[in-house]
Amino acid sequence: MALKFRWRKWYAKSNNLSEQRVFGERPNIVISTCFQAAWEKLIKYMDIDAKFIQPSYKDFKINTDEISSAIDDHTIGVVAIMGNHYGGQYDPVWEINDIVEKVNKDRGFQVGIHIDAASGGFIAPFQEDLPDWDFRLKNVLSISASGHKFGESCIGTGWVVWRQRENLSDHVAISVSYLGGMGESYNLNFSRPASGIYVQYYKFLRYGISGYQKICEHMMIHAQKIRERLRKNEI
Ligand SMILES: Cc1ncc(COP(=O)(O)O)c(C=O)c1O
Repeated sequence: MALKFRWRKWYAKSNNLSEQRVFGERPNIVISTCFQAAWEKLIKYMDIDAKFIQPSYKDFKINTDEISSAIDDHTIGVVAIMGNHYGGQYDPVWEINDIVEKVNKDRGFQVGIHIDAASGGFIAPFQEDLPDWDFRLKNVLSISASGHKFGESCIGTGWVVWRQRENLSDHVAISVSYLGGMGESYNLNFSRPASGIYVQYYKFLRYGISGYQKICEHMMIHAQKIRERLRKNEI
């Protein structure tokens, strides 16, 4: 939603359109067909078209050769999935960043990248030898992660972090003053359980970075063993 509202503002300004007139323009998002069902909801509920890119059949990652031509002046962003829910492969966000950078420069756009790290948000930070994949890349504007997967929290705990407030998260923040101070709500629903946050916070404190590092290393060893046995057809 933040990307959509950000795009609207930019599109209205670039085309001298009124706020009302720009509502009639239908934006799109560029994403690999390895998307998880959550994205189908965005597309269906939020009036956003999807520009699907087939993954490469060799490695199941988004085919980066097709990204540039998929982007147009109605594109609110490119999604990089880290990792997809089929095999866990990461879309190479470091390559997508270079492509988006060039498109923006050549065509005067302001397209950004959202990283769907629902499955990789608690894995990628603990993997060594991974190229920069987060806000260290200029065009990464937001990252989402599920706490209830490898963060070991309760179901329904998720995070979204934005690169900046101005012209991005401030589009979707609703400020309220009636809960004992100023607070900002970013959810579609207003009231929600806080238990996942407590559990997650406890895990953060209990494990610390070194604990999550160990969990991640163990998972990688298991994944490696399963891969080897699958290759040998023992499973
Ligand atoms: C890549 C990806 N995106 C989004 C989701 C949805 O995340 P959540 O279950 O936190 O709503 C999942 C969950 O399986 C996923 O794997």
